Amino acid sequence: MDTFEKIGSLAKRRGFIYPGSEIYGGLSGTWDYGPLGVELKRNIKEEFWKTMVRNRDDVVGLDAAIFMNPKVWEASGHLEAFSDPLVECKKCHHRFREDNLGEKKECPDCGGKEFTEPKQFNLMVEASLGVIEGEKQKVYLRGEITQGVHVNFKQVLDSTRIKIPFGIAQIGKAFRNEITPGDLTFRSREFEQMELQFYVKPEEKEGKKWFEYWKNERMEWYLGLGMKKSNLKFREHEPEKRAHYAKAAFDIEYKVSDGSAGLTPSSWKEMEGIHHRGDWDVGRHSKFSGKDLSYFDEESKERFIPWVIETSGGVDRAALFFLMDAYHEEKLEKETRIVLKLHPKLAPYKVAVFPLLANKENLVKKAKEIHGELKKKWMVAWDERGNIGKRYRAQDEAGTPYCITVDFDTLDNNSVTVRDRDSMKQERVAVKELSVYLEKKLA
Ligand code: GAP
Repeated sequence: MDTFEKIGSLAKRRGFIYPGSEIYGGLSGTWDYGPLGVELKRNIKEEFWKTMVRNRDDVVGLDAAIFMNPKVWEASGHLEAFSDPLVECKKCHHRFREDNLGEKKECPDCGGKEFTEPKQFNLMVEASLGVIEGEKQKVYLRGEITQGVHVNFKQVLDSTRIKIPFGIAQIGKAFRNEITPGDLTFRSREFEQMELQFYVKPEEKEGKKWFEYWKNERMEWYLGLGMKKSNLKFREHEPEKRAHYAKAAFDIEYKVSDGSAGLTPSSWKEMEGIHHRGDWDVGRHSKFSGKDLSYFDEESKERFIPWVIETSGGVDRAALFFLMDAYHEEKLEKETRIVLKLHPKLAPYKVAVFPLLANKENLVKKAKEIHGELKKKWMVAWDERGNIGKRYRAQDEAGTPYCITVDFDTLDNNSVTVRDRDSMKQERVAVKELSVYLEKKLA
């Protein structure tokens, strides 16, 4: 099994990620997040929001509508140029992204070697709004969350006291009619992005300074949440492959250890992009809307269209790569243990509580009491099925950092066993100190 298959199997088994609408045969490129997955994703978004918005004075948040006036997409260039090269295998007639076929140019489905000439295929997903047939308006599901921010640039300025340099962050869904969705959630047709659009003075020095700053901030964010340094790197986009307006572009890439399901040849995969977008966005929206979106700088008394430094990450890709990074198979004496060593901030459950035996009323009662108390502070799992060993394995696969067992000694001396996910070591802790103990450990 390759890495994607292993993660896919664990994700489904434990309730992180399920294939979308599976009972109806699925829908390609869509995924549903189960009870553990939704917590992981929420934790990722919460950490992004804390770091990028709440802990800063120079960034504010926004939540724009998914449907936008179609003119937005004309202005942004998406209707004209948001496309990938599509080729068709001449043997089986399946269609692929040309750049995903690799150097051998071989059809992944039938082995065919001949393809049609590449055609540019637009990735925007169309929808229609309105109630009268024939008069419905064609709209698009946003292809990136970015434009919702830029069209509100002036309103944010007018309704807050913020001044350039400043940023607007947003998290939300984006939709792309991907030609070859695959590698689990890596390339989906519906996915979530977490972005920052940071507006700066249109000066080379300012642009460069903030570009470097955000590049490093974003890398540090992934490292701070426990991703291994050796699995992360920057990749610079070649100037000829960058969008024509982009002054610089780097990706943060994640190393997929033992190959992918074959859709993309490289084992380094894009997780987030940091882009210097120049004055493209605000400039184009000024022009297409006919509204003056220029900025007046009180200090220098200059009026200008700001430059934008963007950080754009995929929440689903981050979730997938956090899972991969945390995934460990450890050989024990009699078995192989699968454990997710997720950072406590990301782990869906922080703690699990078990009564040693499910049929001993006083043990269950005491364990329920502790469970109820800890739940006031954290996401806490409860398990009373099977034996303790099985419960530990289940929590290891869920990435739960600590397991607490209530046993007969608890009834005598009011202490419990706390087991550490990573070291598997157990400690006896007094119930009255449990909360402080866990607070320290989870910090
Ligand atoms: N606003 C800039 C922008 O959207 P992008 O490189 O097209 O740039 C940014 O996308 C990030 O969104 C990617 O680095 C990736 O994490 C995520 N992303 C893009 N397409 C995706 C897809 N089809 N499935 C899952 N995530 C995707």
